[in-house]
Amino acid sequence: MIYLSTDHRGYKLMQEIKKYLEQKGLQYVSVGANSYDKDDSYATYTLKANELVAQDEDNRGIYLCGTGLGTAMGANRNKKIRAVLCPNKKYAYFGRLHNNANVLVMPANYTSIRKAKKIIDVFLSTPFEGGRHVQRLEDISK
Ligand code: RB5
Repeated sequence: MIYLSTDHRGYKLMQEIKKYLEQKGLQYVSVGANSYDKDDSYATYTLKANELVAQDEDNRGIYLCGTGLGTAMGANRNKKIRAVLCPNKKYAYFGRLHNNANVLVMPANYTSIRKAKKIIDVFLSTPFEGGRHVQRLEDISK
């Protein structure tokens, strides 16, 4: 399952992302936000989505906020979350390949839906390389 979280800054982009996931036949659950009204909510929604993503290794998260910075900080407070802030598809590629990221964070203020689609495609299709990266990830989970 893909869990979606955003604050008000990412609300509009997230509405487009939902349509894109539907077109691709992918299921998602959105924890919020549910409007563009300013609501200081990225922490609340991020932590809520974290709990859900953390329930299964195959789960994925797509989180947004204005810059992606606060959301990435909040996401990585959960030890089972490996969140990467991706302003482009190269970051998404290496975030999966080397870091086995289970959460994609994008900066809604600086990401068009056209770009977001490309980043999401790469994030969802790139496998973890394993090998030398396994121990490194275990080290940061200690
Ligand atoms: C909201 O104004 C903004 O602070 C938030 O979207 C995000 O950029 C935080 O890191």
